[in-house]
Amino acid sequence: MASSKNNTIKLKFDSARKYAPAPESRSSAKINARYDLFINGKFEKPVSKKYFGTISPSSEEKLSEVADANAADVDKAVKAARQAYDRYWKKLSGAERGKYIYRIARMIQERARELAIIESLNGGKPIRESRDFDVPTAANHFFYYAGWADKLEYAFPNRQAQPLGVAGQIIPWNFPLLMAAWKIAPALATGNTVVLKPAETTPLTALKLAEIIQEADIPPGVVNIITGAGATGAALVNHPGIDKIAFTGSTQVGKIIQNAIAGTSKKATLELGGKAANIIFDDAPLDQAVEGVINGIFFNQGHVCCAGSRLYVQESVFKQVVQKLKDRLETMIVGDPLDKNTDIGAINSKEQLNTINKYIKIGIKEGAEMYQSSAELPHKGFWCRPTLFTNVAQSNRIAQEEIFGPVLAIQSFRTDDEVIEKANNSPYGLSSGVWTDKGSKIFNLTTKLRSGVVWANTFNKFDPTSPFGGYKESGYGREGGLHGLNAYVKLI
Ligand code: NAI
Ligand code: MG
Repeated sequence: MASSKNNTIKLKFDSARKYAPAPESRSSAKINARYDLFINGKFEKPVSKKYFGTISPSSEEKLSEVADANAADVDKAVKAARQAYDRYWKKLSGAERGKYIYRIARMIQERARELAIIESLNGGKPIRESRDFDVPTAANHFFYYAGWADKLEYAFPNRQAQPLGVAGQIIPWNFPLLMAAWKIAPALATGNTVVLKPAETTPLTALKLAEIIQEADIPPGVVNIITGAGATGAALVNHPGIDKIAFTGSTQVGKIIQNAIAGTSKKATLELGGKAANIIFDDAPLDQAVEGVINGIFFNQGHVCCAGSRLYVQESVFKQVVQKLKDRLETMIVGDPLDKNTDIGAINSKEQLNTINKYIKIGIKEGAEMYQSSAELPHKGFWCRPTLFTNVAQSNRIAQEEIFGPVLAIQSFRTDDEVIEKANNSPYGLSSGVWTDKGSKIFNLTTKLRSGVVWANTFNKFDPTSPFGGYKESGYGREGGLHGLNAYVKLI
């Protein structure tokens, strides 16, 4: 019975999956064969003399090679940032700083198509997402913070906001351009200068941003962009010329950074992992909720710190919701990130795919029941079918630990108190989602859920004006909005 039902579903959805391929042309994306380090307004060869390759995770094709900055390179970049800060940037009026930042925003818009293609090629995410979310949201962050640059006296009434100095910024591979924007825009608006290090698997859009910054005539040394892996990041964190560290990445590295700067005057904001709970009550509009849950966990292959990787469904609608999720999974198109029909692109790296597969095995071993879509996967590259687990216990590792992939752990609940306790029973506290028809229930839950963001009847919505950040092991400090300015100033 079960298998014939699955076959019917498969037949029904096979036709849905068969769209004619609609790949975005790569011709407008110019990628150099090799990139040097962007220091003091110029691309400079690394002192280390070393480079490493960067690939497309959907084809394993080498796209380019980038410099591997060592401690001497980091030192050059930090010194350039310091000089630019002392000689120029800190003396500039807010209105003048704002003009430069607006220029970056407009140039991102002008080169949006190229940036989106390179983001999808280098990171594996569907072009629909990089085109409609990553790149426009990155431009919006620059626009938003450009607007604050000459209004800091209104952001901090009766106080004087002074910049911190040189900010070392380390970003992850899941939203390379957007994370660079989140970090650079508020730092520049408040008068700081920057050394930014993108993640080792996705350096290309940050290097494109370096080209934009050069073309926009931003004074040399105000923004420096250097490539490398963990050792480069550590050299940046430990450099005595850094006044502030802004980091987004794993909780493990967040803890290393916290230890490294303990006892120094360096300030830090850390955006770390998450294990967000989506909660569906029986009075919720179920189709809308299912769509939100699908978006919450499968958006960007689940490579999202606030991904809704846990789902709690009220018992009376549990079966119905799980069936709807399975049906919807079958319609999802997994494949070429540059194809406009693609819903789920490539996993960012072989390493990350191994982590996800390890957790899928753990889930099965723990006794949870797995369901995967029957989507065919390309032969080359790193891929994972969208995956659901039911029969999950709260103590299971798949319900507790961050998987950072397209894997959803589903549990049921009966009462508000029970689900609040379960949702809060996590070392993380970045985000959560509530689906219900009742405003009173939304208010009850939003006050009791220990997470930085609670979305109600929606999920994964971002806006430059809203602060974002976590509780507990999800880190500290807020980025975005007025709060995001706070992280880059001292108030006198
Ligand atoms: P990671 O934390 O190692 O990498 C993030 C950034 O930190 C990269 O730019 C990396 O080069 C840099 N880095 C690594 N070691 C460093 C060190 N000792 N000092 C300074 N910088 C350092 O993350 P990874 O290994 O890529 O992913 C591991 C797990 O972390 C993922 O499976 C996921 O669970 C989580 N993660 C969370 C992210 C988030 O948005 N909160 C983003 C990326 C990963
Ligand atoms: Mg790591």
